[in-house]
Parts: sequence; structure tokens; C-alpha cells
Amino acid sequence: MEGKQLIALLLKIRQLTIGVLLMVVVLFSAVIYYQFDPSLSILNEKKSEPVLTLATDNDLIEDGIHVRTGLKDGEGLMLVVQNCTACHSAMMITQNRATKEGWKSMIKWMQQTQNLWDLGANEEIIINYLAASYPPQKKGRRAPLTEIDWYELK
Ligand code: HEC
Repeated sequence: MEGKQLIALLLKIRQLTIGVLLMVVVLFSAVIYYQFDPSLSILNEKKSEPVLTLATDNDLIEDGIHVRTGLKDGEGLMLVVQNCTACHSAMMITQNRATKEGWKSMIKWMQQTQNLWDLGANEEIIINYLAASYPPQKKGRRAPLTEIDWYELK
């Protein structure tokens, strides 16, 4: 009886020892892994960063044209992109021609009827850009439209 109890006890101790050793090994491995990969990237789904940011620059300018909107490059361009392409396409602008006064009154009309916000100190820069880039044309009629980028109204 004594012998059997002793054997049972030894078996229990062996089991416990193995269990503890296994835990130590697992913990140790985890600690070592952590040294090499503190951000635990293996647990992260999205591992790769997009690398195309430079190639697909959102505000690329080619041949003096802001590619994304079709607006001409010039001082104040980005203010116009930010303030004037939220509600409608930039074609509203590129298909229009006006003097400073003309652009100012279009802006005023949008502010009074279309909820265009107050442009504050940016207004002057925007109007200068518009009048310089899209001044009135001398011809009586505008040139026929080319390369029209139709889109569906929703
Ligand atoms: C809050 C929305 C909104 C913003 C922002 C906005 N517009 Fe407009 N705009 C409109 C609406 C609505 C129309 C009328 C669209 C239509 O007729 O289909 C319009 C029309 C126009 C037209 C045509 C006017 C005409 O008489 O034919 C021009 C040009 C124009 N916008 C330029 C601008 C410029 C420049 C800015 C930036 C300062 C700007 N828009 C910002 C809403 C906006």
C-alpha cells in the first residue's frame, strides 16, 4: 500500500514538473518573440502598409493641371479644391469665365441660396485665383466642350 501511494505521488510530481516546464518554455518563447517583434505584428490582420502613396499622389499636377479636379495650377489652387469641389464637380468652375466681380457674385449667390459657407480671409485668395485662371474670354461664344467626363446624377 505504501509503495503504491509513493508511486502515485511520484507520478503526480512528474506530471506537475512537466506542466511547469512546458509553461516556462512557452513563456520564454513568448518573451524572446517579443524582443524581435514588440508590436506583435503576427497578431495583426493588416500587415502591409500601402506603398503607393507617392505614385498615386492625390494632388498631382501635370502640365499645369491639378489632375484630380482638372483645375489649373496657380496660387490658391488648394483653397479652391478644398472649398469649391465639395458640392459639385470642379467643372462648374472650369466651364465658367468671369471677372473678379463675376466670381464674387457667383460665390455670393451660392452663399445665399446653396449653403456655401463663409470663406473668410480665403475669399480674396479664391477670387484672385478664379479671376486669374478663368478670366472672361474675348470670343463671344465659348469653345465647344471636349473630353467631357459625364457622370450620373444621383
Ligand atoms: C455648399 C455647396 C457648394 C459649395 C461648397 C460650392 N458651390 Fe458652387 N454651386 C453649388 C450649387 C448647388 C450650384 C448650382 C448647381 C447647378 O446649377 O446644378 C453651384 C453652382 C456653381 C457655379 C455655376 C454658377 C452658374 O451661374 O452657372 C459655379 C461657377 C460655382 N458653383 C463655383 C463655385 C466655387 C468657385 C466655389 C468655391 C468658392 C463653389 N462653387 C463652392 C453649391 C456649392
